[in-house]
Amino acid sequence: MTQTEQSWQWYDDNAHIYEEMDPATLEFGRQLLAYADPPPGARLLDVGAGRGAVVRAAVDRGCVVTAVDAAPAMVARLRADFPTVTVSYMDAQRFDFPDACFDVVTAGFVLDLLPDREAAVAEVRRVLRPGGVFALSLPGPRPHRRRWQWLVDLAREFYPGAVPEDLDEQVDVNVAALLTTAGFVGWTRRDFELPVPIPDPAALWDLFAARLPTAVSAGWVDRLPPEREAEFRRRFLAGAERMHAGGGIALDRYVVLHRALAP
Ligand SMILES: C[S@@+](CC[C@H](N)C(=O)[O-])C[C@H]1O[C@@H](n2cnc3c(N)ncnc32)[C@H](O)[C@@H]1O
Repeated sequence: MTQTEQSWQWYDDNAHIYEEMDPATLEFGRQLLAYADPPPGARLLDVGAGRGAVVRAAVDRGCVVTAVDAAPAMVARLRADFPTVTVSYMDAQRFDFPDACFDVVTAGFVLDLLPDREAAVAEVRRVLRPGGVFALSLPGPRPHRRRWQWLVDLAREFYPGAVPEDLDEQVDVNVAALLTTAGFVGWTRRDFELPVPIPDPAALWDLFAARLPTAVSAGWVDRLPPEREAEFRRRFLAGAERMHAGGGIALDRYVVLHRALAP
């Protein structure tokens, strides 16, 4: 598998549950579109569109939307769900579009996945008209990560090797440098936090068992023998109950939005 295939393979396999397993996905799409702030009628390209969190917000605003993704299952779903949108199967590092044909390009949680980010940002610049807007989102820091340490420890005990040792390391994307190198101007960024409250331990278990892609990502529950699974579940619910009683359970979501202009 090439590095580029690795960037989208997981999304291809999980297209059917991608939006369902993260309660914040649609809100993040709305936030990115609001930050890009296109006028109605703008020609907008959404890169790595996934299930269409940004696309949906752009359609609602009256943009003329084109969406691309490299995962065939995402492309198929986008075509079915957004009949007014032009959807193409395309690599974000090499667009099959002419120069200067879009007013706005958005990329929600995509840049960090790509092996050649310089190429991707240069391509965005190429397809934007002068004065066009590039807006992107990336995962932010996780200052409250230690609140979830109990779950990381539990997962490591029951699933040796399944939780990466470098869990706290985030992909470091120097967006300002990438934008500058590609010739963008007027860079701004906005950080925001979106805690997603989880009503009780049982609801957290439901999310966990549905392969929630948090820092303590799961999908492991079904790999245990039944008696171990019962024990894991018991201790999971006890840990969640302590969190619930000690201030409430919330998925801590941090996002950084970036925006710049093509000169
Ligand atoms: C984290 S998801 C974000 C989806 C959507 N933008 C959102 O905000 O919900 C990343 C998306 O980028 C796509 N992707 C990954 N590598 C890509 C590439 N090289 N070219 C185009 N799309 C890619 C994945 O298939 C996936 O749909």
